[in-house]
Formats: sequence, C-alpha cells, structure tokens
Amino acid sequence: MPTLPETMILIDHGKGGAPEVLVPQRGPLPQPKPDEVLIRVLATGVNRPDVAQRKGEYPPPPGASSVIGLETAGEVVAVGPEAGAWKVGDKVCALTNGGAYAEYCTAPAAQCLPWPKGFDAIRAAALPETFFTVWANLFGHGRLAAGETVLVHGGTSGIGVTAIQLAKAFGATVIATAGSAAKCEAMRGLGADVAIDYRTQDFVAEVKRATDGRLADVVLDMVGADYFNRNLRCLGMDGRLVIIAFLGGFEVAKADLRPVMTRRLTVTGSTMRPRTTAQKGAIAAALREKVWPLLEAGRCAPPIYQVFPLDQAAAAHALMESSQHIGKIMLKVAE
Ligand SMILES: NC(=O)c1ccc[n+]([C@@H]2O[C@H](COP(=O)([O-])OP(=O)(O)OC[C@H]3O[C@@H](n4cnc5c(N)ncnc54)[C@H](OP(=O)(O)O)[C@@H]3O)[C@@H](O)[C@H]2O)c1
Repeated sequence: MPTLPETMILIDHGKGGAPEVLVPQRGPLPQPKPDEVLIRVLATGVNRPDVAQRKGEYPPPPGASSVIGLETAGEVVAVGPEAGAWKVGDKVCALTNGGAYAEYCTAPAAQCLPWPKGFDAIRAAALPETFFTVWANLFGHGRLAAGETVLVHGGTSGIGVTAIQLAKAFGATVIATAGSAAKCEAMRGLGADVAIDYRTQDFVAEVKRATDGRLADVVLDMVGADYFNRNLRCLGMDGRLVIIAFLGGFEVAKADLRPVMTRRLTVTGSTMRPRTTAQKGAIAAALREKVWPLLEAGRCAPPIYQVFPLDQAAAAHALMESSQHIGKIMLKVAE
C-alpha cells in the first residue's frame, strides 16, 4: 500500500458565485466506502453541470462529496473490501459522484473503467461524464439504431462531440447544430454529415432539406424550452426527443402537441447523477464492451480543447461559460 498523506489540495467553491470563488484549499483525504476505490487524481474533466454546482444551482446528491468534479483519471491507491477486482496501482477513469477537483477522490468501483489502451490521463479523464450520458440517452432512452438519423444540438459541447462520434460509429446519419461557422467546420471534422449554424440558419428547414422531408428519428437536446416546438417539428414518424438539459429554459410558454400524436413521438430525458451505483455500473459495463474497442481502435477520441492546472479551475470555468470551446476542457492535477 502506498503511504498516503493526511491532507490534500482541493478546489473549494465557498458559498458559490462567479468563477473566482474556485480557490485551492487544503482538506482531509476522502475515505473510500466498502464498495469504493480511492484514486490519486492525475486529471479531471470540466463539465457544464460543474458550473451549475459552483453557482449553487445544482447541489450534490446526499452522501456525495461537496467538492465539484464528476469525472477523473488516475491511479488506485486504496480499495474498499467490496470493491471487486480493482487493485492498488490500477490506472482507472471514473464517473465520480463528486469530488474530482482534488488530488484524491473516491469512486464506486462499478463506475471505474480502465484507461483505453494508448490513452494518457488527460484523454482518459475526458471520457466518463459524456460517454456515460450519451450512451444512456442516445442509445438507451433514444433507441438510436444504425441507418437512422439523429439531430444533435450543441454539437461542439463535450456532450455534442461525443454524441456525433458515437452516432457515426454506430451507423447513424448525423445532423448537428452549433453557434458559429468555425464550430460547424469542427463538427464536420468529427464526422457530422450536416452541420447547421443555428445563428444564421433555420434548423427545422435544414433538417427537412437534409432528409428529403423524412425528418430525424432522434433529437438529442440540451436547450429545452426555446427549442421544444422546433424539435418536435424536426422529428419524423415514431421519432424520439431526448432532453438532457435546459440551457434555453424549462418552461414552454405555448407548446404545439400535434406532432406528438400525429407522428407518434416520444418525449423523454434523464439525468445521470441521481442514478444508482448499479445503474451506472451497467452503463460502465456496456461502454467497456461496446465503446472501449472503438476508442482503442482510434475510431473515436475526445477532442481536448484546453488543459489548465488544477489551481486555475476558475479560468477553466470562465472559458466554459464563454462557450468558445470545442470539445473538452480539462484540469491537470499531477504527473
Ligand atoms: N442530463 C444529464 O445527465 C447530463 C449530463 C452531462 C451534461 N448535461 C448537460 O448537457 C449540456 C452540455 O454539457 P457540456 O459539459 O457538454 O457543456 P459545454 O461543453 O459547456 O457546451 C455547452 C454548449 O452549448 C451551447 N449553448 C449554450 N447555451 C445555449 C443556448 N441557450 N442555446 C443553444 N446552445 C447553447 C454552446 O455552444 P454554441 O456556441 O453552439 O451555442 C456551448 O458551448 C449542459 O447543459 C449539461 O448540464 C446533462
């Protein structure tokens, strides 16, 4: 067993607020529960839900660390008695229940995966949050199948770049939206068949045109209310709208429900964090079987936009809120 320090550096967000509230601080090492491992963190991913937690709009679920951070990669340094096959020294990436903006972090063993072969810590840490979310929503709730067409909003977000690549890898046609010509270029580079700049183009008309009027089978949406009616108009017969966030609000002032009935649409959605360990473990197992081979074969890879040292978490959040990034923003914690 490695000798562990009693304290570690973590990023505190105090009472919440602007990015500057994120400051390094010393705190105790977290203790793994029986079914958890303790990870010496090498890298951590920044995700939009972290921004909401920093602002006080997304409190951690009961029992989770109050420290921000939903994904990490590092080395296992301690193992709970019920943590299964993981052992000290294993290199893992994990969907955490919180606490990843720190030098050490616990994670349920079932939510850990090995680094895909050829991956370093930064790229491994960029995987869990978006791959778990996209897998569960696009292929689970959305039931996207080969030969179908999906419309991905926020195509250059961490979620969007993963959705584009996985949908293509599993044989779907991908139409994606983003807010600039440069972002559209990037989406095409990631494999999108059609890229729509939603600031200058009408995405409903573009989806109609791109599908010769057949429309999309699945819409993966993070905008919510502002897009609700238009999303329904983009869906063809038996289409599925999967809502994973409300960047454009959650209250629809006036909804036109006719397409739901006439085209037999399903409106669904989900959040990842409140799921049980067993549910997240089942997603991890599916990813290991179906997606890790694609990552190892180079058929998809997380685009890393910028890496900040842990003590510059505030700058990383400011960049995320500027929405200038394409792909993942990362924190490097240790060598
Ligand atoms: N349900 C779940 O389980 C789950 C899990 C993880 C993440 N999420 C959610 O998924 C979303 C994406 O997360 P992420 O970490 O990938 O975020 P991200 O990398 O920060 O990307 C978000 C992107 O959305 C676009 N955007 C922002 N506001 C918008 C608006 N009002 N209308 C249209 N587009 C807007 C921006 O690009 P443009 O320049 O194109 O506008 C922005 O870059 C977040 O809302 C997050 O909370 C949900």
